[in-house]
Formats: sequence, structure tokens, C-alpha cells
Amino acid sequence: MDERITVCALDPDAVQRADRLAEQLGALRADTPGEGLTLTVGRDGVSLTGFGLSLRGDFTQMLYRITNGRLSHEMLVKMAKTKSEHPLAVDATAGMGEDALLLAAAGYEVLLFEQDAVIAALLRDAMYRAEGHPVLSEVIGRMKLIEGDSVVLMAEYVNSPDVVYLDPMFPERRKSGLIHKKLQLLQKLEKPCAEEEALLSAALSVHPKKIIIKRPLKGAFLAGRKPGYSVKGKAIRYDCIVP
Ligand SMILES: C[S@@+](CC[C@H](N)C(=O)[O-])C[C@H]1O[C@@H](n2cnc3c(N)ncnc32)[C@H](O)[C@@H]1O
Repeated sequence: MDERITVCALDPDAVQRADRLAEQLGALRADTPGEGLTLTVGRDGVSLTGFGLSLRGDFTQMLYRITNGRLSHEMLVKMAKTKSEHPLAVDATAGMGEDALLLAAAGYEVLLFEQDAVIAALLRDAMYRAEGHPVLSEVIGRMKLIEGDSVVLMAEYVNSPDVVYLDPMFPERRKSGLIHKKLQLLQKLEKPCAEEEALLSAALSVHPKKIIIKRPLKGAFLAGRKPGYSVKGKAIRYDCIVP
């Protein structure tokens, strides 16, 4: 039973979807939003609300980053560049799937793992809506979501991908005054990454050509492992391990 969450339908059309979602999550079902975190189901899809904040996955907001030649300027896309004809990436910490979308837009087939059932529900809903979008549908077609722990599941699904991408929540983000509003809601669900070693070992065990890790600009290396090289942006850093 996921007691963190209440599920609520915003209109009569959404009642069955809300019932199903509450059952899947083992969450409370209510007619009005709960006091804490609530998943609302309506014509616009599934949103997570609470504490005066609201979060709904919406890949149309990523369009400006993947169109008009801007995709090639994305740091992650530059780092993931490959000569493979059919490149495969694993996003072992999918979250809302925004970084995975960049990789998929760059031509990667992307296998996304998300362990949190609520975040996975938001991501699945965003992907479902994007399937009907004229530009996004092709990109979303290269993304496959697997709900579960990538540490346990990765080796079952993939061998020798071009890239394994890791972006676990880092504790520093919790304290940041500059923290993005939507991350504040996600952090109410997420545990900080207490399994850095396990995540890195799982990534290494599938023999990727490279592992790309997102870190805070001045954050420690994941699991203390020194990368082959790093690329720094304004607020974040990508570390690359070439096994
Ligand atoms: C910081 S968010 C990732 C954000 C993501 N890069 C994006 O662009 O939206 C980290 C996510 O990884 C998930 N996560 C952490 N460890 C995981 C694991 N072992 N398996 C699957 N998901 C994991 C968390 O539940 C969380 O949703």
C-alpha cells in the first residue's frame, strides 16, 4: 500500500483510469485531492500535486531543445556521440525521462528504468500523450520504459549497450535554494541514492562502451570512482567512464 499517495479523478471520464491507477499503486482513492501528495487524473493526463506544487510530464516542453539544430548543442548528446548505426542507451535512473528523450532524439534506442511506481506512472502518462504528437511520436517510439530497479534488472534486458546513463538523485540537490520547483515534488518521493556502488557495478556488468554520469558541478564522483574525463556546464558536470 502506497500510503504516500491519494489518487483522485478530476472529471467523470477519468474515474476508471483513476481506479486502475490507485489499484496498481496500492494507493488511497478519493474524490477530492488529499492533504499530502495526490495523483490527479484528468483530460490532460496524470499530475502529481501537493504542497502548493504540481508536476505533470510534458515532453512538448522539450521540443525547443530537440529542434532547429539545438539538439547537437546539448552536452549529454555531445558526450553520447557514437558511430554505431543502431545505437542503444540504457537510462538506469529515468525520472521524468527528459534526458532519455534527448538521447532518443539523437537517434538512440533508449531503455528506461524507473524504480518509483509514482514517477513511473507520471512518465508513462507523458510518453503516452507524446505518442500522438507529430514531432515527438517518432522519438518516443525509440523509448521503452521498464518499471523496476535497474540494479536488479539491467543485465536481464541488455548486453553491451553503447551508453549507460546514470543520474541518481544526489543529496546536495536537497539543500539547494535554487532547486527547480518540480524537483521539489519528486524529492518528496525519492530516496537519495544510497546505492552508488551497486548502480555503478550494475552499469559495468552489462559491458557498455561508456557510462555517462550526471553530477552536481562540484559533487563527488559517483561511488568515488574517478572517470576517464569530465565535461562541465554551468551547474552540472558529466563524468564519463570508458570501461
Ligand atoms: C534525478 S532523477 C533522474 C532525472 C532524469 N535524468 C530526467 O531527465 O528526468 C533520478 C531518478 O532515478 C530513479 N532511480 C534511482 N535509482 C534507481 C534504480 N536503481 N533503478 C531505477 N530507477 C532508479 C529515481 O526514482 C528517480 O526517479
